[in-house]
Amino acid sequence: MNNTTDIFDKAKIEVQKLWANHKELSNFVNFPKNLVLNSLKSQKTSVTDKLFNWNKNLNTKLLELHKAISDLSPYVNWEQGYKEKEVGKDFLNKYGFFELIGPTGHFQTSEMALYVNFLDKNAYYPWHNHEAEELYFIVSGEAKFESKNQKEEILSSTKTRFHKSYQPHAITTLDQQILSFVIWKNKFENISKIVQQ
Ligand SMILES: [Fe+2]
Repeated sequence: MNNTTDIFDKAKIEVQKLWANHKELSNFVNFPKNLVLNSLKSQKTSVTDKLFNWNKNLNTKLLELHKAISDLSPYVNWEQGYKEKEVGKDFLNKYGFFELIGPTGHFQTSEMALYVNFLDKNAYYPWHNHEAEELYFIVSGEAKFESKNQKEEILSSTKTRFHKSYQPHAITTLDQQILSFVIWKNKFENISKIVQQ
């Protein structure tokens, strides 16, 4: 790798390969054609270095993909999406995401959005919901997924979980961090709201 564009291209190729190999993804939404690399500013957050340095205790079936995504970490526009009063300081120390593909993402398209989510170990992502239908795809690590009117389950590498429009969901990590893709068919307002259960 010699420059940032190569690092982004490598990540795009790995995500494209993933779509070709996992029906759950291609059935949910087609991988967009003609993605254009935007020059977004990089923005660090509490988990930027944690993802970049995560190469020990890797629980993944997708090593190349994991590496391609963690290599991006210093160059992407990390966000958190919530305020401390909504989710607490501890959560914000352990959580971050970036829009790799989407209307305002590093790769621009109006056809879908793919957010890369990182959640550190021993974290609780409180119940929340949003208008967009959503598919989680786990790249590495492990977490417990809960959603309303559905059985909870522990998900690890290559597993998926679908959330309907406005279906509340929550995520808990134990002794492992988790790297996942969050895929939205439509971006809508890009607002997740914390909800009481
Ligand atoms: Fe969600």
